[in-house]
Amino acid sequence: MRDLQIRKAEPAEAAIIGPLVQRAIRARNAADYEPAIIEMMCANFEPAKFLERMAERDVFAAVQDGTIIGTVSFSLPRAKLYSLFIEPSVQRGGIGRRLVHYIEQHAARLGCAELQLSAAITAKPFYDHLGYATIRFEERVNDGSTWLMSKRLG
Ligand SMILES: CC(C)(COP(=O)(O)OP(=O)(O)OC[C@H]1O[C@@H](n2cnc3c(N)ncnc32)[C@H](O)[C@@H]1OP(=O)(O)O)[C@@H](O)C(=O)NCCC(=O)NCCS
Repeated sequence: MRDLQIRKAEPAEAAIIGPLVQRAIRARNAADYEPAIIEMMCANFEPAKFLERMAERDVFAAVQDGTIIGTVSFSLPRAKLYSLFIEPSVQRGGIGRRLVHYIEQHAARLGCAELQLSAAITAKPFYDHLGYATIRFEERVNDGSTWLMSKRLG
């Protein structure tokens, strides 16, 4: 894989990361969720809304050749991974796996024994593949149902 830098995202980058996430949702998650749900998911990543979220969570950017091509977020105290999205044109190139490993190491360094996440239906096979165990289905009428999953760290 070409050099990939993973670093904290700057607030001004909400204007780049929000649309990246919206492209990923429309390109991939639309296969598993109704159009109205897809629009609600995308609305959560309007840059102004995403900027508010950046105050609550640590948001990271994956950068290749100066371009942001993926993102993932993390927050305590629940030790939860959120909002993993890869630019559609570079999906299946190992970047998602790199970002998950990055957050696992970040959480372990902060003393977390376990990492949880709420996987989109679309992404569950990816997290299965990465060794995450399924805890339960989380039915959400307004925001897209997910699978609560977890992995022991260390
Ligand atoms: C799900 C997503 C984050 C995965 O990232 P990615 O960079 O495409 O995945 P990677 O290339 O790192 O894949 C790592 C491994 O998982 C496998 N994998 C990836 N997506 C998979 C899928 N949908 N089903 C089964 N396996 C999958 C890959 O084949 C690879 O396995 P290998 O290394 O043994 O060949 C990305 O496809 C994405 O952004 N999807 C749309 C948005 C989304 O659903 N995000 C998650 C919200 S919770």
